[in-house]
Amino acid sequence: MSSPLNAAVLPSTDSPLDMLGGMSAAAFMQTVWQRQPMVFRQALHVADRLPSRRDLFALAKREDVESRLVRDDARKGWSLQRGPIERTPTLATPKWTLLVQGVDLHHDGAHALMQRFRFVPDARLDDIMISWASEGGGVGPHTDRYDVFLLQVHGTRRWSIAPPSDYPMVPGLPLRIIDGFKPTQTFELGPGDMLYLPPMWAHDGVAVGGDCMTCSVGFTVPQADDLARELVLRMGEHWDDDALYADADQAATRTPARVPAELQAFARQSVARMMREPGALACAMGEWLTEPKASVWFEPSPSDWAQGDVVLDRKTKMLYDAQHVFINGEAFQARGRDARCLQAMANARGLSRAALLSMSNDARAVLAQWHELGWIHTTFLG
Ligand code: SIN
Ligand code: CO
Repeated sequence: MSSPLNAAVLPSTDSPLDMLGGMSAAAFMQTVWQRQPMVFRQALHVADRLPSRRDLFALAKREDVESRLVRDDARKGWSLQRGPIERTPTLATPKWTLLVQGVDLHHDGAHALMQRFRFVPDARLDDIMISWASEGGGVGPHTDRYDVFLLQVHGTRRWSIAPPSDYPMVPGLPLRIIDGFKPTQTFELGPGDMLYLPPMWAHDGVAVGGDCMTCSVGFTVPQADDLARELVLRMGEHWDDDALYADADQAATRTPARVPAELQAFARQSVARMMREPGALACAMGEWLTEPKASVWFEPSPSDWAQGDVVLDRKTKMLYDAQHVFINGEAFQARGRDARCLQAMANARGLSRAALLSMSNDARAVLAQWHELGWIHTTFLG
């Protein structure tokens, strides 16, 4: 089989990585991930490959980009304005910050930065958020429910952190700020430094000296109840079962308001049958994990399908399991060589022309549709 562009994109998990202070991805995942915070000095210098302050402020004006403006005014206290953000305070005004979510969807450099964290499964990677803060700016002490790498792009930020605890919220504020935050560690991060924080660690990042840009590589941490609700709904959409409840043994009743226990048992069995359907849960899960966010849309690809290697659009989410390939909220069954090519394509976010031409006609027809939808493009990868 021709090389499906894999090795070049994904480095070995055992090689030392500068961005992890010389630790390998394998060692990081074994000893740090979800276990403890860690500071990596001089991890990544990406300022020239990320949006400038102007670019970031322009993104915040867009309807299809999620943004927030947070201020901590000496007289009025904390305020939160949700985007689009047309006007920002002057750069010299202290204690404000603009935060832009999902920058990886709109900027190639931010998208490329996110790819460097793919030693964690894509199913867990969420987005890149970039903030710009004036002197003293920040969002106050808080906890996040997800893991995050906080990379200092330029300027300096002082981070204070404390272990997870049952923190009460300061009442009456427009943002979630914890009460009684007592930092156990404080670090000053300069350009290129990075802090990893596991979920629920309390943290407060304050800009020191203004012109402070911080990039958060955020992860998705599904919560059991959200996941169960979503999956049961999705499984229900695909599920047909025409068994009818039968109650020939129902006795005449003098308590007509009471729900029959037999009907409850029938309901339980119906749900259990749906849950037992082979692949149904995995399929619903893959569709859900690859569902584009509400603000995402695709333009038909301007590239020529008849030529070139295949690359995924930066907004495309593509995952797979043993039986399926999932892309942008849809599930496809794939076997044999087609499955191997599609799996390699998902891992490498691209596929060589040679590998594409080795796939079945049916699979190539599906890829041509994805191209028409703008989910994939063609290019010459060399
Ligand atoms: C920030 O960039 O100001 C906030 C990031 C965070 O605390 O999660
Ligand atoms: Co946070």
